[in-house]
Amino acid sequence: MTSIKKIFLLFVVATFIISCSNKNAKVAELLIPQPAQTEVKSGSFNYETPSVYFTNVTDTNKSNLLELIKGIYPEATEATAEDASGVIRITQTIDSTLTSESYRLNITKKSIDIEAIDFGGLIYAIQTVAQLQYLAEEGIPCMQITDTPRFAYRGMHLDVSRHFFSVEFIKKQLDVMSFYKMNRFHWHLTDGAGWRIEIKKYPRLTTFAAWRPYNNWKEFWFGERLYCDQNDEKAKGGYYTQEEIKEVIAYAQKLNITIIPEIEIPGHSDEVLAAYPEYSCKGKPYTSGEMCIGNENTYTFLTNILSEVCELFPSEYIHIGGDEADHKNWKECSKCQNLIRKQGLKDEHELQSHLIKRIESFLNSKGKQMIGWDEIIDGGLSPNATVMAWRGEAGGIKAAQMGHDAIMTPGNWLYFDAYQDNPATEPEAIGGYLPLSRVYSYEPVPDSLTVEEKSHIIGVQANLWTEYIQTESHAEYMIYPRLLALSELCWCKAETKNWERFLPAANRHLDILKAKGINAHQISNSVIATEVVDIEKQTIELSFRCDKMPVEIRYTQDGTEPTKESTQYKKPISVKDSAIIKVAIFQNDKRITEVQTFTPLYHKAIGKKVSYNIPHCSHYVAKGEATLTDGYNGGASYGDGSWQGFNKDVDVVLDMGEVTAIKEIEVNFMQQAGPWIWFPEYVDIYMSEDGETWRKVKHIDNDVPRDTEGMLIKNFGFTGDETCRYIRYTAHQLPKQGAYMFIDEIKIK
Ligand code: ACM
Ligand code: ZN
Repeated sequence: MTSIKKIFLLFVVATFIISCSNKNAKVAELLIPQPAQTEVKSGSFNYETPSVYFTNVTDTNKSNLLELIKGIYPEATEATAEDASGVIRITQTIDSTLTSESYRLNITKKSIDIEAIDFGGLIYAIQTVAQLQYLAEEGIPCMQITDTPRFAYRGMHLDVSRHFFSVEFIKKQLDVMSFYKMNRFHWHLTDGAGWRIEIKKYPRLTTFAAWRPYNNWKEFWFGERLYCDQNDEKAKGGYYTQEEIKEVIAYAQKLNITIIPEIEIPGHSDEVLAAYPEYSCKGKPYTSGEMCIGNENTYTFLTNILSEVCELFPSEYIHIGGDEADHKNWKECSKCQNLIRKQGLKDEHELQSHLIKRIESFLNSKGKQMIGWDEIIDGGLSPNATVMAWRGEAGGIKAAQMGHDAIMTPGNWLYFDAYQDNPATEPEAIGGYLPLSRVYSYEPVPDSLTVEEKSHIIGVQANLWTEYIQTESHAEYMIYPRLLALSELCWCKAETKNWERFLPAANRHLDILKAKGINAHQISNSVIATEVVDIEKQTIELSFRCDKMPVEIRYTQDGTEPTKESTQYKKPISVKDSAIIKVAIFQNDKRITEVQTFTPLYHKAIGKKVSYNIPHCSHYVAKGEATLTDGYNGGASYGDGSWQGFNKDVDVVLDMGEVTAIKEIEVNFMQQAGPWIWFPEYVDIYMSEDGETWRKVKHIDNDVPRDTEGMLIKNFGFTGDETCRYIRYTAHQLPKQGAYMFIDEIKIK
């Protein structure tokens, strides 16, 4: 061969290797969670009936790992000798460079080598191979992976009280959790809507407190809140027998998942007290959701229950709830008040803590650790408790600062019962708005903590409360694909998280979820517009994206419907004063979505000063005093940083800087009954030239009922022909403690 020919051949071979490894690199990018370190090679492992050779693996682990491998290679068998090729070698090492649940995976054309120091690491290496099998066109692409989790606690929670879910359903979710390297299942087994775990000593918990004459939680909760006998012909609900629970625990163990049971005390216990009223303050059924702490028998009752729970669950942690207890009955109860006096407690928060500290000490005596929702801090934290922060992150921060472990599960990012797309087109949810991108954006370790404090944030969890979720397929719809984002929050280091990489991967995983029989939300194909307001240039720059991929966005600016010939969106559009932009998504020359209209407006009040006669609330500040004239409109979430919340009346004055012609004032309010956000009862708008003498130009009464379902946005504005310098905008709300009004902008045209 001439040297020219040789060089050419070398070039062809090199190009082939690069394109093969490029292809493999593309596959590697689709892994969720993204491994810590990947070195992509060319070629693939193409054996269909590999043998599996174990080194240093116990018989139980061998059989569990082999079972999982059979999900990839149904014909795989255990080898007695280390074959030279077509072999999966699994070694449990004592290599000190590997930590718990970490693994090394080396896929070559001839073999797949797996090393880890524990069962978790071995299983996750196999799960990575299982994902690669789904993601690659053929074979398992060659690569070398060294992978390690960011957090030890990677959790998913499910409320089975508000609606009951079958053992089969739980097992299916455990399979998928493990596939995404999640390792804690928080089973919310008890709550006011139904008790779900067999306790041998107290049979009425499951012959009565587990059943309601209504399936739908809404009917129960907004109706008479009755329970019924298991044998009642109307009985709906259910519970898990101890045998079933053992079966689920064993199933989870094979997937490296620990099940953490939650037995909710002392609040959220209406169902317990309907069955055993002697543990309520009044001693009568249907009188309280909180257990009587002043009654010593309550303590005996609880420790009897927890003894059975500790016996049943091998988990180191037992969750005892502790959230949202109402103090009303304790305040009126002589037994509770006596205990407060006798123990020198300050108030009912300390009364609750008194009980929880005793319960913790009982659990510790059984070799268990206690977890509670962040309210367990309020009356003094038990000595060894782990705190689950849900009312924002504050509880987790405080716990870490006190040297306690904490798990972050803040509602604003990780409550999967919130909407994940436009509430107008989604199944009814409890409220809030958590699209995939918002879940992904969460960073669990607050910057404000010291290095030592940071080490106490041991993990992350998402919660699925099921008040509005009656069916298993609806539960899956709410969990997925958001669990994919959760998986990366739990596993990947903050600096390796990357939304641009993750989003195409998540889109690809929709197919995998479907293949696994999961009813996932399909990721919104709505166009999402982002505005950047430039006060200096007096322009708005509008950009579009879509979380559904791949998509082709086309748009018009002349008010017509976009067609396949309309301009394809490539870069942001700059708007000087106002525009009407219509967009839609196209595929193969066909429009596949409804047309969406965006009307960016550089309105007259942008950048003008607003003063507050009554302050906005301290929780939903948005951008403070700049919020109402910053040009940014609120979206579907009241917590998105553009909506400003008011828990008293709205009374603000806008100074236009000079006398200005006013043709229109637009002020949008949000209403969402779930989180107590309502339209105002009425609005009054005043104008003035000097800021002292005012004339009322408009009074508007609200005509939207408070119990209207879903999320509503409505303009309480003005149209006319006026001139003025100052505008005073007032909105009155019906008095209700804890209720809010939300406004996003005062637009002047
Ligand atoms: C909770 O959401 N009440 C923990
Ligand atoms: Zn009491």
